Amino acid sequence: MKPTTAPRTYRVKSFGCQMNVYDGERMAEMLGERGITPAPEGEEADLVVLNTCHIRERAAEKVYSDIGRLVKAGAKAGKTPLIAVAGCVAQAEGDEIMARAPAVSMVVGPQAYHRLPDMIDRAVQGERNTDTDMPAIAKFAALPERRKSAPAAFLTVQEGCDKFCTYCVVPYTRGAEISRPYADLTLEARKLVDAGAREITLLGQNVSAWSGEDERGHAVGLAGLIRALAEVDGLARIRYTTSHPADMDDALIAAHGEIDKLMPYLHLPVQSGSDRVLKAMNRSHTADSYLRLLERFRAARPDLALSGDFIVGFPGETEAEFAETLALVDAVGYAQAYSFKYSPRPGTPAATMADQVAMEVMDERLQRLQAAINRDQHAFNRATQGRDCEVLVERKGKLAGQWLGKSPWLQSVWFEGDCAIGDLVEVHLAEAGPNSLRGVIRENVAA
Ligand code: 5AD
Ligand code: SF4
Repeated sequence: MKPTTAPRTYRVKSFGCQMNVYDGERMAEMLGERGITPAPEGEEADLVVLNTCHIRERAAEKVYSDIGRLVKAGAKAGKTPLIAVAGCVAQAEGDEIMARAPAVSMVVGPQAYHRLPDMIDRAVQGERNTDTDMPAIAKFAALPERRKSAPAAFLTVQEGCDKFCTYCVVPYTRGAEISRPYADLTLEARKLVDAGAREITLLGQNVSAWSGEDERGHAVGLAGLIRALAEVDGLARIRYTTSHPADMDDALIAAHGEIDKLMPYLHLPVQSGSDRVLKAMNRSHTADSYLRLLERFRAARPDLALSGDFIVGFPGETEAEFAETLALVDAVGYAQAYSFKYSPRPGTPAATMADQVAMEVMDERLQRLQAAINRDQHAFNRATQGRDCEVLVERKGKLAGQWLGKSPWLQSVWFEGDCAIGDLVEVHLAEAGPNSLRGVIRENVAA
């Protein structure tokens, strides 16, 4: 590659999960420290980071078409953008990307992006470079301080996964489970609050496996961390995601009944309602043990909103087994849930299993599952209609004077009135739709 001038503007495009959103924010902060500024709306950036997701579908193909589009748009604007591919596709297919896409000058994995500034220097000299090491903790230590935050912020507390569900690439792309130290997290939470956060969602591929030592050297799990963060002045709400049923301990269940700042919402993926399929997925729970676990959470916090993830069409899934998934959905009554068609991921055990399910069958099952989930989500919203609750104002709505925020149960609520982004307002939930609720502001509780 030819040497080029140092980039002055950047754009980070994050795909996929919230952990990627977090990583994207941290990369942007690093670029900001370097004096590189966000490219103005509608203008081509000098440096583009594609922060990719590899969990499903033709993720890599999407990256190549994005690269093609960037090169074309750059040429039209008379520039050759520096392109970095980051995230899980970079980790999984970095070498192929370098070979196939000459326009890419940097490939950086999710555990190595703290080295992006050096990589940019080398790219400016004309040197294409790849870093897919997995030093994990070193990354966080090398990132700049948090200086700016939205009212609802993300905080990655744990990365990687040791569960090896047979369909999943995460253990390969994000590596083994690591927990960030307690002291680092309480400090980052405080910085986020100072920077404007009122709500923090603790993130991890397997967040409930977080473990650490508190300031007295006592071993603590996620519940202990949540308790510590609940002491942070100015922080009003705490959430966490995503969990595996095997790592939900008594302390975490109790925390839902005892810590007011911990919001009444639990995202607990189950994937299937069939024990045969769950076993083939290498999930360590059954449909029944999952339901019993949810009962314990509901006993601790009766108004808990439940969310989950589902995969339809896992290899060998029969119609009767899919019906067990529908039955589980009926039994739980989710407030919301995410459902996906099974997608064979290169290198995972399920990708080479016999009896891959036909696409038309998966399409049809997905439609039925989503209809059931939508029905329950609407029912959940209707059940909260008439209640008053606090809403954290996150942004302006589409129309003048309108605001959008989240209820404690993570529902989108829109309303009109006198408030500002970041306020917690008391809102009457007046009218429930399938995807959101219309609220009427009662008072601005804490501006
Ligand atoms: N195919 C379809 N869905 C998947 N997920 C993970 N891997 C796959 C795959 N290969 C889904 C699971 C997981 C969510 C993040 O993505 O439901 O909980
Ligand atoms: Fe993937 Fe989640 Fe299973 Fe880990 S627990 S392997 S991240 S689906």
